[in-house]
Amino acid sequence: MIGIVGAMQVEIEGLVQKIKKPKIKIIGALSFVSGVIGASKVVVVKCGIGKVNSATATSVMLMAFKDIKLVINLGVAGGLDNSLFQGDFVVGSSCIQHDFDLTVEGLKMGQLAGCESREFLCCNVAISKMQMVLDGLDFRYKIGTIVSGDQFIACDQKTAWLRSEFEALACDMESASIAQVCSSFNMPFISVRSISDGATDDAFLDFAQFAVIASERSISAVEKFLLNNNSKI
Ligand code: ADE
Repeated sequence: MIGIVGAMQVEIEGLVQKIKKPKIKIIGALSFVSGVIGASKVVVVKCGIGKVNSATATSVMLMAFKDIKLVINLGVAGGLDNSLFQGDFVVGSSCIQHDFDLTVEGLKMGQLAGCESREFLCCNVAISKMQMVLDGLDFRYKIGTIVSGDQFIACDQKTAWLRSEFEALACDMESASIAQVCSSFNMPFISVRSISDGATDDAFLDFAQFAVIASERSISAVEKFLLNNNSKI
């Protein structure tokens, strides 16, 4: 079974509609829809925006659905790389929490206490499969670091800092927190994000215009991934 997490309704609804024989399980404020897409058993949850919401939903999902073998986070992101445009993709090779700050203790920005590295690594097998899917759909993409924090980034200066400090390709508000939870469960994880804006001073205007299109593109990529999946994960 594959667990799929998206923050906003627009980022998951097209995928939920594709689930055959959907079953709903409600736990607290979370609603998990499970069933089948193609040959893949799936469970999809809308986690809400931000790191706490996404970490909570992922933890509950992994506790409640014991046969999950891979977690996919899908949705939109702010692009930090000048060669990426709206609708293009970033597939995370690693994820970092850009707003986690224990630098007073000599740790790097984003590095958690007790962790050797600030990067949570994504699953290479799933990245390669996603690469094949994106190639097949003729979607432009880059593979690299995604940074997450509890902020919508709409600031040229901050964007420049995220690029130089983390060499990040995209920013969002959930990938790294989901990656952290998956790491603590030893669960393979991948984040696939379509660019809605450039995280620039006027990013929210672009986000308002492109969030739906970018969400739909990320849903098509994940749907294709599920349809192609013959490894019974
Ligand atoms: N998700 C989409 N665009 C974003 C941005 N600019 N900052 C954080 N999360 C985002």
